[in-house]
Amino acid sequence: MNTTCTPVDTERTVLYVSSLPDQDLTRFLAASGWHAVHARSTAVAERMIERDNIKVGLVELPSDCTSQHLSALVSCMRRVETNWVAQIAPGQSENELVSRFILDYCFDFVTRPWLNERLVFALGHAHGLSSLRHPPAAPEPSLGRHGMVGQCEAMQQLYRRIDKCGVTDAPVFVAGESGTGKELTARAIHDRSSRAGRAFVAINCAAIPPSLLQAELFGHERGAFTGALQRKIGRIESANEGTLFLDEIGDMPHECQAVLLRFLQEGTIERLGGNGQINVDARVISATHVDLDKAVEDGRFRSDLYHRLCVLRLVEPPLRERGGDIKLLANYALSMYKQDGARKLRGLSSDAIVAMSNYPWPGNVRELINCVRRAVVMSEGRFITASDLGLPETENGPAVTLAEIRSKAEKDAIEHALQRHGYKLSEAAAELGISRATLYRLMHANRLHQEPAGGRAPNANGGTDADEEAERQAPSLV
Ligand SMILES: Nc1ncnc2c1ncn2[C@@H]1O[C@H](COP(=O)(O)OP(=O)(O)OP(=O)(O)O)[C@@H](O)[C@H]1O
Ligand SMILES: [Mg+2]
Repeated sequence: MNTTCTPVDTERTVLYVSSLPDQDLTRFLAASGWHAVHARSTAVAERMIERDNIKVGLVELPSDCTSQHLSALVSCMRRVETNWVAQIAPGQSENELVSRFILDYCFDFVTRPWLNERLVFALGHAHGLSSLRHPPAAPEPSLGRHGMVGQCEAMQQLYRRIDKCGVTDAPVFVAGESGTGKELTARAIHDRSSRAGRAFVAINCAAIPPSLLQAELFGHERGAFTGALQRKIGRIESANEGTLFLDEIGDMPHECQAVLLRFLQEGTIERLGGNGQINVDARVISATHVDLDKAVEDGRFRSDLYHRLCVLRLVEPPLRERGGDIKLLANYALSMYKQDGARKLRGLSSDAIVAMSNYPWPGNVRELINCVRRAVVMSEGRFITASDLGLPETENGPAVTLAEIRSKAEKDAIEHALQRHGYKLSEAAAELGISRATLYRLMHANRLHQEPAGGRAPNANGGTDADEEAERQAPSLV
């Protein structure tokens, strides 16, 4: 048996983890077409798996194995790409610790003395299924842009608008429900702008008591008020040459709105207790989850300030309108947090995806990420199921007609085929079993564009539609 650390050919290689090599087993496996490599410790096994991308492992569980022993093995058995077969002693499967371990981490098990055909069958089966698995997709940049995950049409449109906002200095207002990514968008605009190398200063207007907000924004001189023991530079001044992000602007008190308006009109501020105007060159991006138009209507928000802030306006799509992105985001959250779980998780079950797609997500992306994170910790099987997510039933959701269901299914299918084929119309049409002309017509009818997240794609006539698109979008941006 090869016990050295020279790289191995991973096709039909089985990694045997046991305290001692077993020559008879090696000979038998070689005669059955398997190349066996031995690892005496889990540390060695872990290195070999990572380096050689081994698909199949055979692990010997000693008859007196303890929970410490099993925990040590877990470190090298977590990797989703490797399928494990356990060798156990007769009766050992009755041990709850062992059976739980096999259920959580192993693909199959054989009991000593095993039937040779049974072992070869288990290894072959483990190898075959492991070969079907594709390497996990990296969250970025293939799944979205600007550090955001999302490929649906609404997100593509948002990415294009972020790019446009990046090239101007005009104030941007970002609207959207709670947890939809307003702050991510603000940062993305800053990162795309000529100010990217300078500060991005964020302030949450709802989180600071109204009496302190003005001092926080504008700063103060020493002695300006009781407790002002020294000069303090405000957030607006700190954002000089960079970007100021005014989050939850809808909660800003009236008196503060008046002073902010002066800054937006004149580009100067005055620290509290100070007696001179200071020029500040900060690009302003603001956001709120409240309905700002309604706040203006109700007199809670100054309309002159509203017009100054909303020169450009972006709207974050709510999660329930992002179609297949829910699955992408759930897998992204899983890839971020799967190490938090006590067991090796293989993924999300299809009923979990259905439950997530049907849930209205009041807290949007933040809620979805937290939900998957919680399920990673609480789940008991190898897949996260709908019940692990603990989402309430959505039977009472709004009624939909059959026509609506059909039309949504059609739009989703086209969108997914386009994404899968990098927006190559002929390939997507072939997968859908329709002609390119029909696909083009359906895309038009469903308001789907021909442009991937990363840039332009040729349209049906071989040209690009970016200029037409820019023309179309400009009025809604301003
Ligand atoms: N498209 C996305 N891809 C990946 N993560 C996202 C995406 N959108 C939002 N998130 C994540 O969701 C969380 C909420 O995002 P963010 O704070 O930008 O939302 P928000 O709209 O400002 O929320 P709030 O209304 O609560 O202020 C963050 O952890 C963020 O990283
Ligand atoms: Mg926010």
